[in-house]
Formats: sequence, structure tokens, C-alpha cells
Amino acid sequence: MTPGIRPLIAGNWKMNGNQREAARLAEALRDGAENADLLICPPFVHIHQVAALMLGSRVAVGAQDCHAAHHGAHTGDVSAAMLRDVGATHVILGHSERRTNHGENDAAVLAKTEAALTAGLIPIICVGETEAERLSGLADSVVEKQLAGSIPYGFITAGGIVAYEPVWAIGTGRTPTERDIAAMHSTMRSALVERFGPAARTTRLLYGGSVKPSNAVSIMALADVDGALVGGASLVAEDFLAIAKAVPE
Ligand code: 13P
Repeated sequence: MTPGIRPLIAGNWKMNGNQREAARLAEALRDGAENADLLICPPFVHIHQVAALMLGSRVAVGAQDCHAAHHGAHTGDVSAAMLRDVGATHVILGHSERRTNHGENDAAVLAKTEAALTAGLIPIICVGETEAERLSGLADSVVEKQLAGSIPYGFITAGGIVAYEPVWAIGTGRTPTERDIAAMHSTMRSALVERFGPAARTTRLLYGGSVKPSNAVSIMALADVDGALVGGASLVAEDFLAIAKAVPE
């Protein structure tokens, strides 16, 4: 943890759940958590419903992507302003599944992040190396390049969040060693402070990739880990709340 930062436990529901399941999961999280802020990011079609259910609760609702344009001829896309309009306050951008499945590069993530900031959404930018990159000793340089290429000015002061998600740890049950997670978070902190100044000392840096109740205590205790971005375990309310409970007091 970073002293002075209230941790954030964010759930990325990915492409899961029908209306009833989304409502049931949201209801089970409504009371929030003691030591951490909670954020849930349902698929687009459930955001309106889930945001309405969470009104008056301490749980924030976000999206998993947005388009870089405000409106226009972009079939199948959703703008940041639309997300804000239906109750989202955050948006995940540059997730490795978007980078891989939709060919999103740093420039695209940068443009989407700018759109999110303009619409008043808090962006969560995801970065992380592949297994081949880590094995070749390139993890630091890959992540530093992603940070440099996808974070616009204004991001830090708007409360922008960065999530380190090693691609090979997502949905695999594998995680980097605690030492490697701490080292990468320290590298990211230094890169952000170097570029944006002392304000970046309080930027939340989340870890994501196979976070579960069983490993959350040790991961959340690491320096510069200010919360988690949780995939699979965020679909089970007890597991998600158990991860939030793992945050040190
Ligand atoms: P898992 O927690 O299922 O590994 O997914 C992590 C993730 O991709 C969150 O964005």
C-alpha cells in the first residue's frame, strides 16, 4: 500500500452475466467494504441497471472500454459521454484483451483516455507484458513504453488509475512473485513521478491477474500496490468482498 491512498478494489466482469445475474451480484456488494473503495465494471448493457441499483451506495460503477469520439458514425461503439450519462464514473482502457482482440495500440488507448477525461470519467489504464517479454527481460521496458504512450496530460490530476496486469497472469491462476510485482509497481511509480511530478505519488497503482482471496493479503501488502483489478473472482460476491477485506488497515 502507499500511505495516504485509500485502496481501490475494482471488478472487471468482462463479458459475463445476464440482467438477473448482474443485479444479484450488484445487490450483494451494495454495502461496500470497510478498508477499500469498490468499483464494479459490468458489460455495457448492464451499466444503466447496475448504476441505478448502486445509487446511494459507496460502490462505483464503470465500463470496460469506450470510443475515442464523442458521437458519430461508429457502428457498435459507445462513447465516454454515453457511459457518464447512464451512471458510470470510471472506464477501464487498454485492457490486454482489447489490445489483443481488437488491435488497440498505445495511440488508441491515449485517444480513448483523453475522451474519458473530457467526459468526466476516471480512466483505468491497463499495462502489462506478455510471458515472452518477461522471459526476455523486457517487462520493464514494455510497461514503461505503454505508460509513456497511453497516458495524456491531465490524467494524474483527474485521479487517473493505472493497473499492472501481466498478460500471462490473466485468468491463468499464475501470478508474478511478490518481489516482481513490487518491483514493477516501483518502476511504474518512478516513471510517473518523473514525467508528471510529485502529484503522481498518490496515483493509484492496481495489480491485476489471478487475484483471489487466497493471494490477496500478500499482494495487497506490497509497497505501491494500491488495490486490485479483479476478473474471475469479481463474479463471486463473497470472493470479491474477501479480496477487499485483505487490504491492510
Ligand atoms: P483474472 O482476475 O480473471 O485473472 O482477470 C484479471 C483481469 O483481466 C482484470 O482486468
